Amino acid sequence: MDNEQWQAKYGDYALITGASAGIGLAFAQQLAAKGLNLILIARRYSKLQTVANDLSSKYHIDILPVELDLTRHNFMDLLLQKINHLKIGLLINNAGRGSIAPLIQSDPTVLEQLVKLNCLAPTLLTTHFGRLMAERGQGGIIFLGSVVGYHASPYIAAYSASKVFNIYMAEALWYELGKQGVDVLSLSPGGTETEFQRVSNMSAGPLVATPKEVAMLGLKSLGKKASVVHGWHNKIWAFFNRVLPRQWDIRLSGYALSKYGHEKSSANKIE
Ligand SMILES: NC(=O)c1ccc[n+]([C@@H]2O[C@H](COP(=O)([O-])OP(=O)(O)OC[C@H]3O[C@@H](n4cnc5c(N)ncnc54)[C@H](OP(=O)(O)O)[C@@H]3O)[C@@H](O)[C@H]2O)c1
Repeated sequence: MDNEQWQAKYGDYALITGASAGIGLAFAQQLAAKGLNLILIARRYSKLQTVANDLSSKYHIDILPVELDLTRHNFMDLLLQKINHLKIGLLINNAGRGSIAPLIQSDPTVLEQLVKLNCLAPTLLTTHFGRLMAERGQGGIIFLGSVVGYHASPYIAAYSASKVFNIYMAEALWYELGKQGVDVLSLSPGGTETEFQRVSNMSAGPLVATPKEVAMLGLKSLGKKASVVHGWHNKIWAFFNRVLPRQWDIRLSGYALSKYGHEKSSANKIE
């Protein structure tokens, strides 16, 4: 599709959660280049403002940076107060965090934030904006899954469960909303070089991707597929869960995760 087709199909505004860094920022850059207006959400307003200033002067688009903590119980009300009049044609449910530690040693506050940010926020955003898109008969929604969402993953149990939540939501809605003209995609990266590793104290593993590559694949696949995994090695890893007996798959994940150092990690644990 050329830029005009993107604007006609997914305009006026693309709303991106977690746009101050990493994959969300890469989405913002690529969608700005397509001429879509943007609503950028994150907690660090100064970062959003810098991105907004750079991209709006480069591409002559309207950008609204919104400082918002998506784990707040009333985040939808706060968001709608700021953007209610704007037409959202594309929703990117990108903001997410991880947690690495045996579950019973994990800080419950971190786990609560993880579930709210990774599962509840995309559900509420999608219900609201998905309904408006369906009424208009067009639009797009991308959910960030992960290759670990294809496996029950020991030591990141809550994170991998939150990612299968996103994959299943996207795939089910690809069917449900697809009938009403709304494109939905599950985008699953493997290790990608972002702030995620520092924030969540998780290793990116081998063969790390760039956020730009991941966002590019998402935009290329939207409207064509229900689900996509980034990187040939991640595709093979995801495929294992279809061919291996379930217990083997879980044991393999447990082995790999302990190799990538849950024992060294203390950030998400209560001592
Ligand atoms: N990086 C990887 O290896 C990898 C692999 C597979 C899947 N993913 C998925 O890809 C998505 C993006 O991850 P990333 O790697 O780009 O992470 P990142 O660099 O850590 O960026 C996360 C973004 O989410 C925002 N955010 C975090 N908590 C928030 C909150 N409570 N409210 C609002 N915004 C919040 C952050 O901004 P503020 O701090 O300013 O709020 C930031 O913009 C996530 O869903 C992640 O699970 C990542």
